Amino acid sequence: MNPIPTSLYERLGRREGITRITADLMKNHMANPTVKARYENSADLARVERRAVEFFCAGSGGPEAYTGQDMVTTHKGMNISEQEFVAVVDDAMAALKTNDIDAATQNDVLAILWSLKPEVVRV
Ligand code: HEM
Repeated sequence: MNPIPTSLYERLGRREGITRITADLMKNHMANPTVKARYENSADLARVERRAVEFFCAGSGGPEAYTGQDMVTTHKGMNISEQEFVAVVDDAMAALKTNDIDAATQNDVLAILWSLKPEVVRV
């Protein structure tokens, strides 16, 4: 018998779980020499974190609205490299593991993040 399908939002622990995962993601970025300076230079990191929570909630099937800018507009002109992109994805995967997210769900998130590469790298 197939398990009852559960949305990605629910498997990530809804808004509460996603908020914790995003806090760990930001912590990982600040400890990652490949991308640290990018975030340190942001004028308002608390706003970026808040928007990231909204983005992950909305993008995983939650009821929250994303109030930030689209991915291309956000990252335009930053000249983000493939290496930086991989570093950010690695930080996200590590944050999922820290929060005991199961392997199948980790893979679902990985696929979504990877699909956003053309909207982030060298745009
Ligand atoms: C799939 C990967 C990524 C996703 C889903 C993502 C998502 C986001 C979101 C939702 C925001 C907030 C936008 C807003 O405030 O309107 C943001 C901001 C930002 N992102 Fe990304 N991002 C990704 C990859 C990257 C990479 C690889 C870098 C470079 C290391 C990067 C650097 C930044 C910076 C510096 C900001 C803050 C800009 C500011 O201060 O306004 N992002 N990102």
